[in-house]
Amino acid sequence: MTILVTGGAGFIGGNFVLDWCGVTDEPVVNLDKLTYAGNLETLAPLREHPGHTFVHGDIGDRNRVEQLLTRYTPRAVLNFAAESHVDRSIHGPGDFIQTNIVGTYNLLETVRSYWHGLSSANRKEFRFLQISTDEVYGSLSPSDPAFTETNRYEPNSPYSASKAASDHLVRAWHHTYGIPVLTTNCSNNYGPYHFPEKLIPLMIVNALAGKTLPVYGDGMQVRDWLYVKDHCRAIRRVLEAGEPGETYNIGGWSEKTNLEIVHTLCALLDALRPKPDGCSYKRQIIFVADRPGHDRRYAINARKMEHALGWKPMETFETGIRKTVQWYLSNPEWVQNVQSGAYRAWVTKQYGDAG
Ligand code: NAD
Ligand code: DAU
Repeated sequence: MTILVTGGAGFIGGNFVLDWCGVTDEPVVNLDKLTYAGNLETLAPLREHPGHTFVHGDIGDRNRVEQLLTRYTPRAVLNFAAESHVDRSIHGPGDFIQTNIVGTYNLLETVRSYWHGLSSANRKEFRFLQISTDEVYGSLSPSDPAFTETNRYEPNSPYSASKAASDHLVRAWHHTYGIPVLTTNCSNNYGPYHFPEKLIPLMIVNALAGKTLPVYGDGMQVRDWLYVKDHCRAIRRVLEAGEPGETYNIGGWSEKTNLEIVHTLCALLDALRPKPDGCSYKRQIIFVADRPGHDRRYAINARKMEHALGWKPMETFETGIRKTVQWYLSNPEWVQNVQSGAYRAWVTKQYGDAG
């Protein structure tokens, strides 16, 4: 038995593959295009691992994916591959449409033809798992209940609209063609190997470099945070016991404003890596122009995962964020490695002089 993971050199996919190889002997084939967000350094611990095969390629390349399916005959395809950063989707939606929508469509079509060729027993056991986001549900007011699996899709950014579109394709390929699909909608992840364009790693990396900590708007937007390894465990559980055609919300029961997040990071860094001048990292916080169309609040109701599949997060935000800060302090080479010329160009484009 083998699984095929796409986007396994990115943040969540990379953590998933590392965890997978730690808990099972089942081989994993890892297909990744290695965009700016894909990093083989993340997979360095697997260089000698016999169960991990890395393949450089695009989910939209039907020939390439067909060859992989024929050669490795996976029992499941887990689709992590995506363009994932909201701010980038605002500057240039094209790549998001191409990978998240057209790429997923091509992947589904290739999988459909492979699936048809399987024996009826293997067709029944096969799974296509779509890794999606809570952002497809849109924005909540402070008093709204958290998103459940029956909330309407109301995406507001080019990124979330492209993810919503791909989720709809996955759903349709189940209802029309019978492919056994599973979809997970997860809240904001944080943890090791997180690319420093996203809030938490950006703030840690900027703080340590003595740079400003740019908070969008009033900093009172709310996100629900989940430690990435809890997400990986949830995905393994959905793959193992999820019902084909069902969707599962995954979250950390941990709503925080962005300002709370930044203050927590500064306090942890003050304790773990005090500044030589004795000042707090909080002094580096600045408020910058808000993100256009910025969603105010996301919150996930993860009861279905708990009741149907017995999954609950193991980390609290306090334990997870401490581990995360410690990881960044212990892995400066990883950070240096991802801060390529392309990364610096992005920082200048997004933050201008504040970067
Ligand atoms: P990421 O940007 O860190 O990684 C994406 C990976 O996909 C990269 O390795 C990249 O090289 C690869 N990729 C991009 N286009 C590709 C293509 N056409 N073919 C093959 N590989 C391609 O993203 P992430 O944060 O790890 O997110 C992974 C998935 O989880 C995404 O689908 C995202 O929508 C979803 N998600 C993310 C979060 C979060 O908080 N980061 C939360 C919920 C859901
Ligand atoms: O909710 C799940 C989603 O979480 C995933 O689907 C996305 O792939 C992932 O990128 C993430 O989206 P967000 O937009 O919520 O994450 P980001 O880290 O970009 O921003 C988190 C919050 O912090 C958001 O309200 C914007 C704010 N922010 C972000 C950056 C980069 C700032 O205030 N300043 C910043 O510099």
